[in-house]
Amino acid sequence: MESIKVKDLKAGMYVKISEAWLKHPFLRNEFIISSDSQIRQIIDHGIEIVSIDPTKSVMSIENLENISHSDKDLTPPTRWNPEKLMSADLKEAIQDTRMAKEDKAKRVYESSLQMMGKLLDSPTAENIKQSKEAIADLVDMILREPDTSGYLLNITFHDFYTYTHSVNVGILSIMVSKEIFKNSDAHDMHELGAGFFLHDIGKTKVHPEIINKPGRLTDDEMFKMRTHPYQGYKILEQTNQLSEECKIIVMQHHERENGTGYPRRLRKGEIHPYGKIGCISDIFDALTAERSYKQALTPYEALKLMKEQMINHFEEEIFKGFVLLFS
Ligand SMILES: [Fe+2]
Ligand SMILES: [Fe+2]
Repeated sequence: MESIKVKDLKAGMYVKISEAWLKHPFLRNEFIISSDSQIRQIIDHGIEIVSIDPTKSVMSIENLENISHSDKDLTPPTRWNPEKLMSADLKEAIQDTRMAKEDKAKRVYESSLQMMGKLLDSPTAENIKQSKEAIADLVDMILREPDTSGYLLNITFHDFYTYTHSVNVGILSIMVSKEIFKNSDAHDMHELGAGFFLHDIGKTKVHPEIINKPGRLTDDEMFKMRTHPYQGYKILEQTNQLSEECKIIVMQHHERENGTGYPRRLRKGEIHPYGKIGCISDIFDALTAERSYKQALTPYEALKLMKEQMINHFEEEIFKGFVLLFS
């Protein structure tokens, strides 16, 4: 629990009012804020400071509508030449049959990274559409060329974190999906690939100072960060790129089997297997990434930690499928 000014409260936050029960109009001292009018009631009663517990906060589609409004017009810095069509580079790398597999994996990875860089700097409808086409080619390559994919798995390149993270989670998740769904054609692997690569596209709507902050986030920063699944959903919806697969993955990749995830605190059967796959890859990549404030774990150490300390966050079958990738 941390203190927060009442004016900074948002719908969905789990709030604790320390004033005596008689001094405010609510039934309990602790509850989830469900509307702006409740915030106004707290203000009207002269209460200025309350405590919030982000781990118990819930974000529903409705109350997320108003969140991060001030960040909406953020234009992230452009690091890549927007004139250059990076997805074309990726397609070219994938189609190259002459290159040694290891070199090809490197080139495919670097082109994916550049494409994600361009996309996350500028998530326009056109860029999302072109990236989805290139991701479909990449998915086909992962399904078709296990040797090249094996090399892809070995590459670690952790500079621009969200870019590399998106590519890593995309590659890992497609490989797990292949493992779990085998050759079942009930799954649209291209749309799945798009969903996994784009899972964090909503981070483009969260302030870069929060995204790049080394170390612990404050409760308010954490709350804003946790809006990114819904922000991603909105971007894909507004750009007409929202397939059912993308929607599930973008919205559910932070939900955990034991109900401790966000934004909806879903549990077990409420979470779609696509969301569960995204969640495992996401955690694994975060653990194995080197950041300014933490050392990277080796894949073995990360899997060990996930098994020993987080196993109730995952569905067993999917975790087993994930571990198989590294055996
Ligand atoms: Fe995420
Ligand atoms: Fe992520």
